[in-house]
Amino acid sequence: MSGNFRGYVSLKPPIVGSEGRLVSGYSADVPPRQLSQQSFLAISRISLVFLYAIIITGSLVRLTGSGLGCADWPQCSTTKFVDVSTGHAAIEQINRLFTGIVSAAVIAAVLGSIFVSPRRKSLIWLSSALVAGVLAQVILGAIVVFTGLNPWSNMAHFLVSLALVSTAVFLVEQAGATNVDGVLAVGEKIEPTRQITRRFADLILGLCGLAIVLGTFVTGAGPHAGDENAIRLNFDLRSITRIHSATVLICITATLIFLFQIGRNASEWSRLRAKLEIFLFVAVAQGGVGYLQYFAGVPAQLVAVHVAFAVAVWISVLRLWIAARK
Ligand code: HEM
Repeated sequence: MSGNFRGYVSLKPPIVGSEGRLVSGYSADVPPRQLSQQSFLAISRISLVFLYAIIITGSLVRLTGSGLGCADWPQCSTTKFVDVSTGHAAIEQINRLFTGIVSAAVIAAVLGSIFVSPRRKSLIWLSSALVAGVLAQVILGAIVVFTGLNPWSNMAHFLVSLALVSTAVFLVEQAGATNVDGVLAVGEKIEPTRQITRRFADLILGLCGLAIVLGTFVTGAGPHAGDENAIRLNFDLRSITRIHSATVLICITATLIFLFQIGRNASEWSRLRAKLEIFLFVAVAQGGVGYLQYFAGVPAQLVAVHVAFAVAVWISVLRLWIAARK
């Protein structure tokens, strides 16, 4: 291993082989038939992007009222496996086909975790969890259809998707780590995060998670069920929306206090600042979209933006939390 110390794997770009030929996807340190860390990182990122994208395509199914566009499962109807004869069926069908792409991405992640050099248990566990999660989602998707879009099954479907995105975020973090043993490889020394900073990070993650779960209750009680005949949660829409938005405001306030808190510590400030600012920016923007859609009578287009931003908020808070745990 060139220029490294024990346990450190270089994240060099694909490089030129011994005879000057380009050895795509392999670093000089990686034996043939094995994957470089860099290639594995790319596969992990692709899985994350697809897992994010399918949440958006899934929400489009709901927001266009196409939830029962295919009334059967796994085939679209009792007579046709694939049916694109109506707009609703086509939208639901595209979403189902997209599941195939997501499945291929997470299977590639598992294979990559086996062939990556050096092999690490954490990568194998995390990528296997992605495959298990996608399988669980296929079953949950069937339950959503067979229960006639019951809001509880819809909420579970969304939250499991978010758990999958979280797993992919951990996978990307692990795959991008410049060390194998969990020790910083570059010789860089970081001061351990203070206890108070860790507690704050836990609090913000918890509040953000709560806001997201409450958001799914708002959706479950709101007008966008995915089909006009689907049952709705029996909550007062205005009250549950207020609880949802109040949690968001508490979360943003806690984040501002956190900002001042870490501002007093140069090491934490330099390490967490960028992630904190990204989270604050996305969360505040999401809050704005939330109020806008509420006062505009929840138009489907804005709800779609709100769903997309909800995932971005969660990814950014999770990355902040991971950085604060180091
Ligand atoms: C960080 C800020 C926020 C996050 C992370 C967030 C997250 C969410 C999530 C995850 C959902 C459910 C999506 C689904 O099940 O498909 C939701 C729905 C909703 N949120 Fe938020 N939200 C935020 C801020 C707000 C604010 C400030 C309001 C203002 C009133 C708001 C109003 C709503 C409404 C009305 C819905 C229901 C939309 C529908 O009918 O489907 N949100 N939110």
